[in-house]
Amino acid sequence: MEQYVRVTPEEAMQARDGVIKLHGAEGFEGMRKAGRLAAEILDALVPHVVPGVSTEELDDIVREMTIRGGAVPATLGYRGYTHSCCISINHVICHGIPSDKKLKDGDIVNIDVTPQLNGWHGDTSRMFLVGDVPVKAKRLVDVTYQCLMLGIEAAKPGNRVGDIGHAIQTHAEKHRYGVVRDFCGHGLGQLFHDAPEIVHVGRPGTGPELRPGMIFTIEPMINIGKAAGKVLDDGWTAVTRDRSLSAQFEHSIGITEDGCEIFTSSPKGWHQPPY
Ligand code: MF3
Ligand code: CO
Ligand code: CO
Repeated sequence: MEQYVRVTPEEAMQARDGVIKLHGAEGFEGMRKAGRLAAEILDALVPHVVPGVSTEELDDIVREMTIRGGAVPATLGYRGYTHSCCISINHVICHGIPSDKKLKDGDIVNIDVTPQLNGWHGDTSRMFLVGDVPVKAKRLVDVTYQCLMLGIEAAKPGNRVGDIGHAIQTHAEKHRYGVVRDFCGHGLGQLFHDAPEIVHVGRPGTGPELRPGMIFTIEPMINIGKAAGKVLDDGWTAVTRDRSLSAQFEHSIGITEDGCEIFTSSPKGWHQPPY
């Protein structure tokens, strides 16, 4: 049996192993503000994601906007990570480290930002298309966005975590894509990574039940090829083993009485490329 606990904002920062937190109105308000800033940062990156820009330059923009917004990048100093976002190009599944590497025409890129604002974490990522992208890669990006939104549609009281994974897995596998198992969505709030784990595959009616007040991310990583990945020697960069392209989108959401609220929607309506 899973355990749930109703928390005040003060209690929301406590690590409680495996216990699922149910947040109140103040928590939702905090997440709304953090999520909006996160989405605004991704919106602001759009004109900068072009051939020739280095991922470090993009990281600088993320850091400056995060701080200007009154927040701190949650990844900065997190488990020894020293950058303000993750930038994952082509066959990189997630946790790509910003560097002097430059984007080039035809790349598909995920940028994942997490400003922590007044204690609350807005965690979101989108794919960006660099210049002219082959149709096969664009199709992967479209289907991955659809996977995220199908997962979000399944995120409502009465359903379970497995229903989210099932919706995502069914859609991805219909297109013969591989769903990454090595990384998952997660509870968040005043903690960056909290219970429960949101696995992006699953069986209907299994896993913890979804209750109003739960706050978590859904962040499917979908590969054109096989699901298997490995982490490079830098300890962070996760790549597909078969070097096939990988895409990801992420939203932070809260379960409401009749569905869910997305905290990280683009104010500009730039939900999926082309922006
Ligand atoms: N933003 C990522 C997530 O969606 C976590 C990045 S942790 C880092 O959970 F240290 F790699 F930046
Ligand atoms: Co996340
Ligand atoms: Co993220």
